[in-house]
Order: sequence, then structure tokens, then C-alpha cells
Amino acid sequence: MAAPGVQRGLEDVVALESRICFIDGHRGRLIYQGYDIRDLAAQSTFEEVAYLLWYGRLPTASQSNDLRARFGALRSLPPALVERMDTMPVESNPMDVLRTSVSALALFEPDEARPGASSIGGAQRLTAALPTIIGTFHRRRSGLPTIRPRPELSQAAYLVYALLDREPTELETRAVDVALILHADHELNASTFAARVTASTLSDLYSAVTSAVGTLKGPLHGGANERVMELLDEIGTPELAEEVVKSKLSKHERIMGFGHRVYKVEDPRATILREWSKKVGEAKGNLRYYELLRKVEEVVHREKGLYPNVDLYSGSIYSLLGIPHDLFTPIFASSRVAGWTAHVLEEYQDLRLIRPTAKYVGATDLAYVPISERTG
Ligand code: CMC
Repeated sequence: MAAPGVQRGLEDVVALESRICFIDGHRGRLIYQGYDIRDLAAQSTFEEVAYLLWYGRLPTASQSNDLRARFGALRSLPPALVERMDTMPVESNPMDVLRTSVSALALFEPDEARPGASSIGGAQRLTAALPTIIGTFHRRRSGLPTIRPRPELSQAAYLVYALLDREPTELETRAVDVALILHADHELNASTFAARVTASTLSDLYSAVTSAVGTLKGPLHGGANERVMELLDEIGTPELAEEVVKSKLSKHERIMGFGHRVYKVEDPRATILREWSKKVGEAKGNLRYYELLRKVEEVVHREKGLYPNVDLYSGSIYSLLGIPHDLFTPIFASSRVAGWTAHVLEEYQDLRLIRPTAKYVGATDLAYVPISERTG
């Protein structure tokens, strides 16, 4: 229970004004720069959405193609970074690799990483580089061939190529593209807030994204998508869903992929991803994950009244493509980086050091005891 005047977790605190993203938690709506997420997921591409987040307007066809070409041109990593990545333990958590590599990238791109130099160009560089970082690490630990920048591929197709070393089908590319669109921004979620706090000290874009990657890693945030698949593995078959979920709830365990700080109804991203999980499952002739998740949803809603969030269905789609579980949160990061950087650039436009206060509940006026006289 919070003390009077304390907003634990900054719940319901309005910390700043933003034009980038709006969530209507009671109506289940998500808007990027004025556009409903359902329209964007149905009709646009990740390239269009990244452009929208950075420039505040939808691109023309030629602007969208230019951005796609730019991503292609910016995908390669400095050889000195790849050398350092080669020394990272292959059993490392990919989010640790991503965080450390984004931070290290700044060492080799000092101009772009200079405080005050942050620009849409830096945002594009980071967005282009993240899938390559993840792919470089995953290919090394899996013995796959060295990654190539493949400038002809969209971000979605490149991500699948980077991780699996194969050409995605049209349906797979579209499924990943939709997932990237849906994850690209979400107002002041914890990782975006971390990025804005970092930027508000006038630190640089690379530092802000490093803070954000570390924050996204946690299981209450981006890490939830990996835990959902662990739960499905534990449940095994739909008939056991009721028993396993109820047993967890009776022990006050959280069921990952459910609940949200802002949405009081179903997260619209979950609605769209549920359809895609079914669509990809049907195409692969494997509806096991979809059926398990539907059953888990039914039990969690009945027992706790909770709705699914974006993390419930995303992992089932990636798993059907053959992507390992520990890459789900890095995939989330390679989309959310567009939102993080848009927020950082917005922060610089109207900068105010983010520095809340704490209600002090410790002692005051203790008598100082010299170290030689202290006991126990
Ligand atoms: N499973 C079981 N109980 C839950 C869950 C859940 N997933 N989520 C909330 N509750 C319960 C919680 O135990 C509490 O019950 P009680 O009042 O009896 O103690 C009540 O609901 C309120 O929970 P809260 O922690 O005060 O709510 P919050 O606004 O701080 O939590 C949340 C938001 C996302 C941290 C939480 O719902 C959660 O832990 N969900 C599971 C992790 C997850 O799926 N995270 C992804 C979030 S969305 C996308 C992203 O950020 O990546």
C-alpha cells in the first residue's frame, strides 16, 4: 500500500506531452501519430510506420522506398564490433548481447553517438543495425553462415533471413511485418520512459537506446513473450491448461501475456496477433499453439478477469517460423527502437530533466559513531 502522496510505479502520473502515441485504455485503442493501429497493421509496412513515428506523417511511396533503401545501406556493423561480438560467450542471453553491442556500437561511431548529434539519421542507423546485431550473434552460436546486409529485403524479411538464414514466404514476411508494426511504439512504457529519462539529461541517442534495451529485457515488460512459450511448453495439451493455470494463480503467480497497466479491455495488438497466430498456424498445418493460447485465455479471463496483451500471441508466430524463444524479446527491440528513438528526438525538442522525488521514510538525526567505536 502506497503512502499518501506517493504514486508507486508512477501509475496514472502524466509526466510529459507527446504527439507520438496515444492509448485509450478503456476503449482498447492505440494510435500512432493520429493513425489507428488497426489501419496501420492492415495496410502499412514497418518502414512506413518508422517514417510516421520519426517525421509525424505517412510517407509517399518514394519516401517509403528511400527509407527501405536506407535501412539496407545501414545494416552492416563495424568490423571492430563484430570482432568483439565474437568474444562474447555463445551461451549469453541475446538481450545482454544486444544491450552490450548497442553500447559498443557507439564506440565505433563516435560522431553519431556524440551528445547533441542525435538525429533521425542516428535513429535510422540503430533501427537498421539491431537485426544485424541479433543475427550476427545467433548465427555464430548456431553455426550458420555469416550474415550479409541483403539491401533488397524489407526490415521484416531481413529479420527472418538474419535469424534463420532462409528466405521467408510472403505470409511469413507479412506476419513479421505486422508484428513489427504493432510493437513499434507504446507511449510511455517502461523502456521508452527509460530512453526519455536518459535523453532528458542531454545524453546521446545510443546511450538512451542502451538504457531502453536493458529495461525491455525484464519479464514484466518485453521479456513476457518468451515466458508465454515456456508456459505453453509446461502445459503441453489444451486439456491440461485449466489445471496448470489455476494452480499457478492459486500460488499468486503471474500468467505472462496478460494484464496491462493502461488497457482495461483487450489490448488491440493482441486481437490482431491472435488472428495472425491462427493464420500462420493454418498455413503451417499446426494450430497447437493457437488452441493452447485460446484455452489459457479462457481460464485466465474466467478466473482473474484479465485480458491478453501484445506478448501473448507474438511468440507463437515466431515459434511457427522456427525462431528460438530467447530471440523474441530482441525482435521486440528491433521494432521498438523506432519508437524509442522517436521519443528521444521529441524529448530533445522540449527538454526538461526528468527527475521525480521520493518520499523519504528512513531515519534522520542519528548520532554519528566513529568507526573505531562501532559494534555489530
Ligand atoms: N497474471 C496474474 N495476475 C495478474 C496479472 C497476470 N498477468 N497481471 C496482473 N495481475 C493481478 C495482480 O496480481 C494484482 O492482483 P491483486 O490486486 O490481487 O494483488 C492485480 O492484477 C493488479 O496487478 P498490478 O501488478 O498492480 O498491475 P500493474 O498495472 O502494475 O501490472 C503488468 C501490469 C503488465 C506488470 C501485469 O499485468 C503483469 O505482470 N503481467 C504479466 C507480464 C506481462 O505480460 N507483461 C507484458 C506487458 S504488455 C507489453 C510489454 O510491456 O511488453
